[in-house]
Amino acid sequence: MLKFVLIFLLSGSAWAVSLDSGKEAFEKNCASCHGADNHYPDAPVLYGQEPRYIIHALKQFRSGERVDHIMSSMNQEAFKISEEESRSVAAYLGSQDICDVKNEVSVDKPGFIDTFKAGRALAKERNCAHCHGSFHHKAPRLHGQNKMYLELSLRAFQKDLRKEHHMNRIAKSLSDEEIEKLTTYFNGMILMRDCGPIH
Ligand code: HEC
Ligand code: HEC
Repeated sequence: MLKFVLIFLLSGSAWAVSLDSGKEAFEKNCASCHGADNHYPDAPVLYGQEPRYIIHALKQFRSGERVDHIMSSMNQEAFKISEEESRSVAAYLGSQDICDVKNEVSVDKPGFIDTFKAGRALAKERNCAHCHGSFHHKAPRLHGQNKMYLELSLRAFQKDLRKEHHMNRIAKSLSDEEIEKLTTYFNGMILMRDCGPIH
């Protein structure tokens, strides 16, 4: 019993320390592109992202398996923190609320609601949530992700600039119109459900 409490306390305190150092390393090295002000909508939002996915993606950028074709910077940025820091940055980001990110969803754009609804129906039909709703096959969270980043990612999968065998096949099967619907839906989810209904 005592051993259990000790282990629990030790792991509990290690977790608290890592969140603080994760925040510090993130603010110093990463927040200019991935911070709550969401200054670059072509870079991904990482708040609320699955920590194991963040660690996995950083490893891929370090090894060169994944190449940043958007800003040509992540392959160098990933080396600015150690592997240990990656774990605390990932834990910190996973604990952050995506609703704190300034995310401008174009709800006033004519036809937004219709496109959003068509995207929701298509996502259901194509079963995107099978992987993206449960971290199956290490698939990241898409809800509330920047629309431009979602589009650029799907285009990169279509052209094999980014490689993941499920996504290369799935992205190639999508038309431009379907990409517009799906990205409107996943981006719009930040307002429609996750952070309260839109008016
Ligand atoms: C100069 C801007 C910039 C900085 C600074 C930066 N990143 Fe990135 N990051 C990007 C861009 C752009 C991408 C998307 C690259 C792509 O998909 O081709 C990205 C992608 C990522 C991804 C993958 C996310 C996903 O949804 O697939 C992770 C994780 C990540 N960055 C973590 C970090 C961390 C941790 C730091 C700090 C050590 C950092 N980034 C610093 C621009 C930046
Ligand atoms: C069989 C599992 C699977 C299904 C189904 C699936 N995905 Fe994915 N998706 C993945 C995986 C795995 C990744 C991460 C790829 C990587 O690590 O580079 C991913 C990545 C993505 C990304 C990049 C996100 C980011 O943060 O970088 C987008 C966008 C995406 N998927 C959209 C979709 C859409 C839209 C659908 C439905 C039409 C879909 N996916 C269905 C497995 C899946």
